[in-house]
Amino acid sequence: MLRSDPAYLPELSLVAVVDEQICAHLLFTRIDIEAGQERFPALALAPMAVLPEKQNQGIGSKLVQFGLEQARQLGFTAVIVLGWPEYYPRCGFRPASRWEIRAPFPVPDPVFMALELILGALKNVRGAVPYTQPFYII
Ligand SMILES: CC(C)(COP(=O)(O)OP(=O)(O)OC[C@H]1O[C@@H](n2cnc3c(N)ncnc32)[C@H](O)[C@@H]1OP(=O)(O)O)[C@@H](O)C(=O)NCCC(=O)NCCS
Repeated sequence: MLRSDPAYLPELSLVAVVDEQICAHLLFTRIDIEAGQERFPALALAPMAVLPEKQNQGIGSKLVQFGLEQARQLGFTAVIVLGWPEYYPRCGFRPASRWEIRAPFPVPDPVFMALELILGALKNVRGAVPYTQPFYII
């Protein structure tokens, strides 16, 4: 569903290949942070997974760092993630609350995180992040 959504960015749909086997995937899609009447374009990191037998070998971190660099080169300035609060900070994410950026549904503060691809990009951005429709369908 995300791939058929207008938020889909094929350039930011990534896989990691080890010994000719796809062992991890990572997707970034467009989202807007709703700051009052204004919308600030950003990215959502989700979903992401590494094959169980390939976990804890640095593949996930490398894939995230590669994806963040690709995103920066494409001109994006900030990324949001809803995920493990012990994992994503190692890739530079911090609780989004530090910028007063909120999830559109109740979540514990540490799990909703943001990262500036350009230092200061989120300085004057505060508001809610309405995820695209496919994220609401379970
Ligand atoms: C989370 C995930 C993507 C991490 O990828 P990975 O390649 O295993 O991670 P890395 O090898 O880059 O990093 C490993 C480190 O992260 C830690 N880590 C991995 N998953 C973690 C988690 N869920 N919570 C906290 N720490 C985690 C490991 O303990 C390890 O720490 P260490 O370096 O101090 O020993 C992978 O474990 C996974 O696919 N999990 C199942 C799917 C999932 O949870 N996806 C993310 C949804 S938000």
